[in-house]
Formats: sequence, structure tokens, C-alpha cells
Amino acid sequence: KSNEFQQMIEAHTLAANFYSHLLLNTVEGEKALHYLEQRGFSREHIEKYGIGWSLDDREVLTQLLMRKKFDMKEMELAGLCIMKNDGTGYFDRFRGRIMFPLHDDNGNVVAFSGRTLSESKEEAKYLNSPETPIFEKSRLLYNFHNARLNVRKTGKVILFEGFMDTIAAERAGIMNSVAVMGTSLSDIHLNKMKRIANQLIICCDGDNAGWDAAKRFAVLSNQKGLDAKIALLPGKMDPDEYISTFGGDSFAEKVIGNPHSYMSFIMAYYKRSKNLSHENDVLQYIHEVLEELASKVSPVERDLMIRQLTAETGVSSNALNEQLMKKVGKLAKQEK
Ligand code: CTP
Ligand code: MN
Ligand code: MN
Ligand code: MN
Ligand code: MN
Repeated sequence: KSNEFQQMIEAHTLAANFYSHLLLNTVEGEKALHYLEQRGFSREHIEKYGIGWSLDDREVLTQLLMRKKFDMKEMELAGLCIMKNDGTGYFDRFRGRIMFPLHDDNGNVVAFSGRTLSESKEEAKYLNSPETPIFEKSRLLYNFHNARLNVRKTGKVILFEGFMDTIAAERAGIMNSVAVMGTSLSDIHLNKMKRIANQLIICCDGDNAGWDAAKRFAVLSNQKGLDAKIALLPGKMDPDEYISTFGGDSFAEKVIGNPHSYMSFIMAYYKRSKNLSHENDVLQYIHEVLEELASKVSPVERDLMIRQLTAETGVSSNALNEQLMKKVGKLAKQEK
């Protein structure tokens, strides 16, 4: 069994080197290289993260793996190749995509994520390796093996929702970031981070999915006993877009350097879709924030939030406190 794992990792390493060569040294890779340069990737970062290009060809990798005498049944199981419909052989899973190797905690390449160059909605933006004996999405944190030392040193880890953001963050001098692959954060992910950090800064995309993910991530992290803060981005930007637009220094100082507490984030979360000059929105906003406050214990935090609510809505702190106590009472009854 361990020999099977070894073979799969060896094949992934070979594939990563092959893809990297195609990107950096061939005419076929030029378009992709250009794309990456336009997105701000330096040669150094392309090499550090092992980024590559998979030719738009049905079976170049398959042929390479066969020449190197890999067991093709195993290569299919490893997610690199797919069996032809008529069962006469295999073809490559990844074709015509920018290849991002995904590493396990020891730095072994165990999977790939391939990004299309086209912005058409018809094609999935990212094609990932399937779950395999060496790759589970709920276990893998992108960049964990690189960031680990810096996380230990600082006691702090930055969490993004996409690996593009982690790579971009390096341009902001941020060397202690990891990324999940999308919007699910598992218990395994949390335990991994908790073992080496006590502070977590969650920095999700500024779109609706990102705000919801940030809220979920923050709740889960706090339940784990990680001190989680949330960094917010203006508009609907994601971290990578912010860095490309405003630069790394601004990102490090204004975004990551100024993260919000959970309650402060929650207020921004509920305020975001509202117009506080409309009475209905004000009522809804107060209701939502007080619901959250009622389940929190810190009196200082309550005081701060009530003061902010007063400033934002013009409702007196007496009225807000009275309403809050009603909600607290209701909660206490429910718990009995
Ligand atoms: N993702 C995925 N499949 C998709 C879209 C997203 O697997 N079709 C995962 C990827 O791991 C990606 C993460 O979700 O890294 C975040 O998605 P998104 O924010 O859409 O991607 P970006 O990182 O912003 O990529 P880009 O900047 O290239 O658009
Ligand atoms: Mn996103
Ligand atoms: Mn994004
Ligand atoms: Mn992006
Ligand atoms: Mn802020």
C-alpha cells in the first residue's frame, strides 16, 4: 500500500516538472506565461509554487507516464489519467490549463488544480484532481508546508479561500498564509492551524459567497478556541484583485493589518445589504445585531456595539439595551 502511495507521489512530481517545463521553456507555454505575468506573477513565484502548463493535447502526460513504466491503473486512481470510453487506453485529465500543484504537509505534490485561460463561463474555471488515496480536499491547506515556519514564528495564520490569493499575498510580504480550496473549512483544517497558531485572520472574497464563508469560518474557528479576526475588502474585490489594484503595502497595512473582531465584522455583515435611511432596514439591522449580541457574554463588547448602533441608527442606548435584555431573557428561557 505505501508503495502505491509512493508511486502516485512520484508520478505527480514527474507531472509537475513536466508541466513546469512546458510553461517556462516551450512555445506552447508562452500564452499561459504571458497570462501569469499580466496577473502579476513573477518568475520567482512561478518557480517557487511550481506552476506549469498542460498542453492542449489528449495524451502527452499519459505517454510520458507509460514510458516511465508507471502502472496506468494506478495513474487513473491517482487522478492523472482517465480511461477511454472503449477501454482501449487512457488520456490526460488536464489539458490546456495552467497547472497549480497542490502539496501535502510534507511538501509532496499530491494533486493539481488547473485553471483555464478563457474567461468564458462555459468551462469550469478550475479543474481539480478528484479525491484519491493521496489527496483529500478536506485535509489539504494550500501552502501549509511553506507557511508553517512563519506561522509558528508569528503565532498567526492568514486564511484565504483561494490559492491565487495566497500567492498574491507574498507580493505583500505575507509569508504566513494558507488557503482552502473554495468555501468549505473542515475540522481537520482547523486542527492543523490550531496546532501551530493561536491567532487566525480570515480574509475571504468580498462577494456574497465570501462574506458568508467568512462568517462561517469565524464561527467555526472561535468554537475551536482559535482567536479569529476577519479582514475585510472594499467592494466585491478578492485579496488578489486588491493587491493588483492598490499594491501589497496597502494590503498588508489596511486589510491584514486592520482586521475586525467578530462582532465588528457581524455589524458590517448585516449592514452591508441595507440602507440605514430606511426605517425597515434600521429595524432589521438592529434586530440582527442584537440577536448576535444576546448570545455573547462580554459586557465590554456589548457596550461598544451598542454605542456603535446608537451612532449608526440614532436609536438611544437605553432603548437598545432594553431590547437586548429581552433577547437575553428569551435565550435564557430556551436554555432551560
Ligand atoms: N474553485 C474551484 N472550482 C471553481 C471555482 C473555484 O475549485 N469552479 C476553488 C478554487 O480552489 C479556488 C477557490 O475555490 O482557488 C476560490 O474560488 P474563486 O474565488 O472563484 O477563485 P480565485 O482564487 O479568485 O481565482 P481567479 O482569481 O483566478 O479568478
Ligand atoms: Mn471566491
Ligand atoms: Mn477569489
Ligand atoms: Mn481572484
Ligand atoms: Mn476596517
